[in-house]
Amino acid sequence: MKPVFSVVLAGCALGLLVTACGGGSSSSTTTTTTTTASAAPAATAGGMSAAAPGDGAKVYDTNCSSCHGATGQGQPGAFPPLAGNPVVTGDAGKVIHIVKAGLTGSISVNGHAYNGTMPAWGTSLSNGDIAAAVTFIRSSWGNKASAVTEAQVAAAK
Ligand code: HEC
Repeated sequence: MKPVFSVVLAGCALGLLVTACGGGSSSSTTTTTTTTASAAPAATAGGMSAAAPGDGAKVYDTNCSSCHGATGQGQPGAFPPLAGNPVVTGDAGKVIHIVKAGLTGSISVNGHAYNGTMPAWGTSLSNGDIAAAVTFIRSSWGNKASAVTEAQVAAAK
């Protein structure tokens, strides 16, 4: 009983900074309890369904993160970011082609120039792995673009 009471008091004290706590103490107690109880399971379930495309994250961590960074942030002057990159969230066929066939020559991403070489992944990764990785980079770190299928990868050059 004691810890709950002090949590309510703490919540009340914090609440006082923004709004009066007074009569609202019972409802704020309910809110606090509900949030605490459901937060963990909800986050877990959400995380799992968000990662539904499966091993895309794993394929990325293993093959791509060394250059493009664990959070797709890239490396200034060397490796372009994939997070917030309009090419990555743009035409799916183009992204598939780049990953499958590799890329070399100067490009510009959000005003920053890169002129490096990315190896082709079409020989070392399966079409399914490429589909998973491309789906992953198109839907991670704030990117929101459609998933790609293994069939789309197979059809690309
Ligand atoms: C050895 C380092 C390296 C690895 C590993 C790597 N890339 Fe790249 N990637 C690059 C470089 C360098 C470029 C830019 C090439 C250029 O300047 O023309 C690039 C470009 C890209 C682009 C195009 C970005 C744009 O704005 O045009 C995509 C998409 C991409 N990589 C995805 C991936 C994926 C997916 C993987 C893992 C399967 C991966 N990369 C692994 C170095 C790498």
